[in-house]
Amino acid sequence: MGNYPSGVTILTTTDADGNPCGLTVNSFASVSLDPLLVLWCIDRKSTNLETFQQSEGFAVHILSIDQEDLCWTFAGKDADRFSKANWSLSKNNLPVISGSLGVLECKTIQKIDAGDHIIFIGQIINIDKKDKEPLLYFRRNVGMVPAVWPN
Ligand SMILES: Cc1cc2nc3c(=O)[nH]c(=O)nc-3n(C[C@H](O)[C@H](O)[C@H](O)COP(=O)(O)O)c2cc1C
Repeated sequence: MGNYPSGVTILTTTDADGNPCGLTVNSFASVSLDPLLVLWCIDRKSTNLETFQQSEGFAVHILSIDQEDLCWTFAGKDADRFSKANWSLSKNNLPVISGSLGVLECKTIQKIDAGDHIIFIGQIINIDKKDKEPLLYFRRNVGMVPAVWPN
């Protein structure tokens, strides 16, 4: 699957004590336009699994080219990932990281067991989009859209 190029996202939610939680994810995909649905998959071994299972929703951050550090921070062992990010709580009580190309706030509508992962499907309840370049993932590396790509 490393040969399939994708974008990079950070998925966030809030735990029962109001603390922000999140991880780097590239399994994000569009599902439906009417209603607007998206999906992503979380490893059953994730320390964040229980929190996402119990929360009512999640925020998808589509990372921009200048957020590579956040990509690795939210994929690493650092217990306090959010101290490295500029974030705030949204009206929907979801942690939103600033500087992202796009933020999709979602209400969780379905969870599906799938092997060693669980698929989360969410309905989009708020969209914020910035005019920025995306961070891409390919063969375990992240980087920018090739210069040959037309604007
Ligand atoms: C580019 C990239 C994409 C990733 N995609 C996913 C994913 O789709 N689902 C997942 O569960 N983990 C994914 N990971 C791995 C998690 O980010 C990583 O295991 C993280 O440390 C999990 O943290 P947690 O156990 O605290 O939730 C990805 C990592 C990277 C670098």
